[in-house]
Amino acid sequence: MIYLGIETTCDETACGIVDENQNVLANVLYSQIPEHSPYGGVVPEIAARAHLEKIPIILKESLKQAELTMEDIDVIAYTRGPGLMGPLLVGASFAKGLAYQFNKPIAGVNHLEGHIIAAEMSAPDLKPPYISLTVSGGHTELSLCLPNFEFQLLGRTRDDAAGEAFDKSGKILGLPYPAGPLMSQLAKTGNRKFHRFPRAFSGEVHGDFSYSGLKTSVLRYAQEKGPEFISENINDICASVETAIVDALVKKCLWALSEQKLNILVIAGGVSANSYLRQQLEKMGKRNNFETYFPSLDLCTDNAAMIAGVASARDQLGLLDFQNQKVNPSLNLYN
Ligand code: KG4
Ligand code: ZN
Repeated sequence: MIYLGIETTCDETACGIVDENQNVLANVLYSQIPEHSPYGGVVPEIAARAHLEKIPIILKESLKQAELTMEDIDVIAYTRGPGLMGPLLVGASFAKGLAYQFNKPIAGVNHLEGHIIAAEMSAPDLKPPYISLTVSGGHTELSLCLPNFEFQLLGRTRDDAAGEAFDKSGKILGLPYPAGPLMSQLAKTGNRKFHRFPRAFSGEVHGDFSYSGLKTSVLRYAQEKGPEFISENINDICASVETAIVDALVKKCLWALSEQKLNILVIAGGVSANSYLRQQLEKMGKRNNFETYFPSLDLCTDNAAMIAGVASARDQLGLLDFQNQKVNPSLNLYN
């Protein structure tokens, strides 16, 4: 069986193809950074328009990469949420048009399940139950992952997401969009103890996060110190901000693992590409006897191989929903 995935939740236009064992046959994407960087963030209308323009080209490229034609595709899957309404509608409409033209079954898939399955696709021995931390531009969420795509919420951010904390702090510090990967790059040679930014809820026994205080604190710090000081010490400041963000993530992962008496942790979503987070969790795992799984780097940030992967994995279990076609910008793992 061959599964085509279509992903258009935010600013990546992507098509991916996998087989019934979730082996990746194609993973192609167009990143809309040039379209959005003049505005310092994603503009939903521009994203929708760019998806519309790019998606046929990306599909063609993914079929070429897999050395397949549309006739070889057995199931078409698209992301039905969560994400931006306009971009989601473009992906869903394109998928529906293809399904009609080539007479193929079609199913909507949850983007967050995609991020989590990306870790299983990268480590075939990994199976639930485990704890997942989904950390992206829109989500920071701890879940208990059970077999058959069942999830229980353990904690989530009460305001900004971790990726948003990277992007917004970076923007305040004068870095171009998207600031997360660049901040992490600069932080590599910085002094992590240069300045102590706040870690919300760090002494509290629960799984929730909060990053809006950190953002305000970075803003005050930048205003107080001035642009010259910021640019002269940018690596140290990035390292200090990254450390504050990652410390909070690591603490809450430790809480969730001990609360649920599990020793397997999965990190999902764009921020799972962060090397300091990877390093810290690996260190903590050795000390506290747990194992952390990260998706391979090409499956960390938004992509469509993970969407095809969910369709494939669910279909093998008889759990792929061919009925509910509606996009839902606030879809979560628990409905
Ligand atoms: O999962 P994703 O590609 O899109 C969403 O679903 O949001 O995640 C994007 C987020 C952005 O906030 C981006 O800055 C962040 O992931 N990100 C990183 C890194 N790579 C991507 N943040 C920190 N370090 C990175 N290496
Ligand atoms: Zn995502």
